[in-house]
Amino acid sequence: MRQFTEDTLTEAVVSRLKDVKDVRFKQLMTSLIRHLHAYAKDVQLTEEEWFEAIKFLTAVGQKCDGKRQEFILLSDVLGLSMMTVAINHKTEPGATEATVLGPFFAHGAKEFGYGGDLREGATMKGEDVWVSGKVVEVEKGGSPGKPIPGAILDIWQAKADGIYDLQTDGEFELRGRVKANAKGEYAFKSYKPKFYSIPVDGPVGELVRKSGNHHMRPAHMHAIVSAPGYQQVITHVFVEGDPYLDGDAVFAVKDSLVARYGKLGAAEAKKLGMPEKTLKLEFDFKLAPEGAKKARKKIAASDAVA
Ligand code: BEZ
Ligand code: FE
Repeated sequence: MRQFTEDTLTEAVVSRLKDVKDVRFKQLMTSLIRHLHAYAKDVQLTEEEWFEAIKFLTAVGQKCDGKRQEFILLSDVLGLSMMTVAINHKTEPGATEATVLGPFFAHGAKEFGYGGDLREGATMKGEDVWVSGKVVEVEKGGSPGKPIPGAILDIWQAKADGIYDLQTDGEFELRGRVKANAKGEYAFKSYKPKFYSIPVDGPVGELVRKSGNHHMRPAHMHAIVSAPGYQQVITHVFVEGDPYLDGDAVFAVKDSLVARYGKLGAAEAKKLGMPEKTLKLEFDFKLAPEGAKKARKKIAASDAVA
């Protein structure tokens, strides 16, 4: 076959997949080709525009290294990350909702027990906060979910200047693997997160500017909560009252993940060895048992992007 036209080219390209044995690969590629061709026809893509797009994608790739993942950022600002989360993570009723992983997760953070201090070695101070809560199984038939002893909470957040440790050459900072105790309770010391800008010094930043959108994320800490026999949840806890909750640059806010930062109280702060004006955040994570529904693929050491 030769002499393809606007009307025959798409099916000709798709038909080259006819001998593919991997059914899922064939489905993914067929749909991708059809949608790409339909897009080009819909907007009547010019050669100059397509060359610009190729230049952009090349720049996105060139911006990536062991610490910077510009493609995740691109997927995030296009809403594709959250679309994939929505498709794959139809949360069990009552379970903690999932949201984007983002580009700043790293393996190998220090392990902490109950009450561990994630401020250790921090190069910048913030508002002290005592974060605590439980990791429990999702409620069933109105009865409270049972605690999940030994659950692991992978926590990471930006420094007070809105920059993540991975964005600089420094050591890990404000991140840790916190282990819940035998009653499923966890606690750690940290700083209250602040809103910040997604990285805008690369091609994705330029795209966001050109689109006329802002590039801010509402204040949050990240958490990946895991326990054997339970679906892992990749999520955030947002700060109630943050000015960017309704305009998150990566569309990741869920109402159930917005939490209030209160005051700890002087006596309690003293008991915990924290400054007098320490804040407190209480947040329970609720996990669904494994097998209830297919969850998103677990974060494993082999998935490291950084
Ligand atoms: C983050 O929360 O760390 C993040 C998520 C998506 C894009 C950029 C940053
Ligand atoms: Fe973040």
